[in-house]
Amino acid sequence: MDRTRHFLSIADWSTDRLIEVLDLADRLKVDPTAAGQPLIGKTLAMIFAKSSTRTRVSFEVGTQQLGGQALFLSSRDVQLGRGEPIADTARVLSRYVHGIMIRTFEQEDVEGLAKHGSIPVINGLTDLLHPCQIMADLQTIREEFGPSLQDVTVAWVGDGCNMANSWLNAARKLGFSIRLACPEGYDPDEDILSSAREVSSVKLFREPGEAASGAQVVTTDVWVSMGQEEEAAERARAFEGYHVDEKMMSGAAEDAIFLHCLPAHRGEEVADEVIEGSQSRVWDEAENRLHAQKAILTTLMG
Ligand code: CP
Ligand code: NVA
Repeated sequence: MDRTRHFLSIADWSTDRLIEVLDLADRLKVDPTAAGQPLIGKTLAMIFAKSSTRTRVSFEVGTQQLGGQALFLSSRDVQLGRGEPIADTARVLSRYVHGIMIRTFEQEDVEGLAKHGSIPVINGLTDLLHPCQIMADLQTIREEFGPSLQDVTVAWVGDGCNMANSWLNAARKLGFSIRLACPEGYDPDEDILSSAREVSSVKLFREPGEAASGAQVVTTDVWVSMGQEEEAAERARAFEGYHVDEKMMSGAAEDAIFLHCLPAHRGEEVADEVIEGSQSRVWDEAENRLHAQKAILTTLMG
């Protein structure tokens, strides 16, 4: 399987291609028609096995703006949810549509769609990764600190979840430094962590303030990701103190910004004063999902 025909993980794309897509996203932000209508006559199937606001709406609106149409397929309503094999779904959808965006649990299911289908597959979040979100986050960082990410330090505070893993992949590809603080037992994926360490400056702490210290970007995510609802009480105990508040932000760089992929739980992973404060860029970050999505769609399906 040629992984570059898909967007399954940030790690699959070359640094040059990631930068080209970010540059296109920047142009699309200035002029929403900058890419023309490369999706005329084309359809994107969007399979959701988990909830979504930003991913669903930005892909649907983005596809329309590029001249195509998007189909929302809840996995509860399609036969996939009743056990039809992913390989069969991949082969059938490949006969009808021109691309698939999928949000689901297992990364293997996304890989399976790509392997058995004949059209581009985009990872709209799995338990392991959330690559589309990171493209919007990188766009937001470049808006703040300029196009070269080399001198930027990102601090990740909290769960070593899909977002943390994708941040590590991005650090590996784009050369920025990353400092993570995760409670014991909630570290990022071991393989992703070690691959990032081979290339970029990656430091793992147990004390959140240490990770945030001097960073230009402080970012976090919910303590309980989709599918982990039964672990909520245990996680609330484990993540005590992993709360981005004004005190933590004051230890970051003077010009530091705060990012969060959203949805956010105020009073848990982030204080209301931070997400609503002057250092927060979360609404730009959410907007950038649209521009980044359009750049990804143009690159893969245009
Ligand atoms: N950040 C993000 O992926 O949001 P949704 O879950 O609303 O798509
Ligand atoms: N880590 C979160 C991200 C939501 C966009 C989750 O998987 O639920």
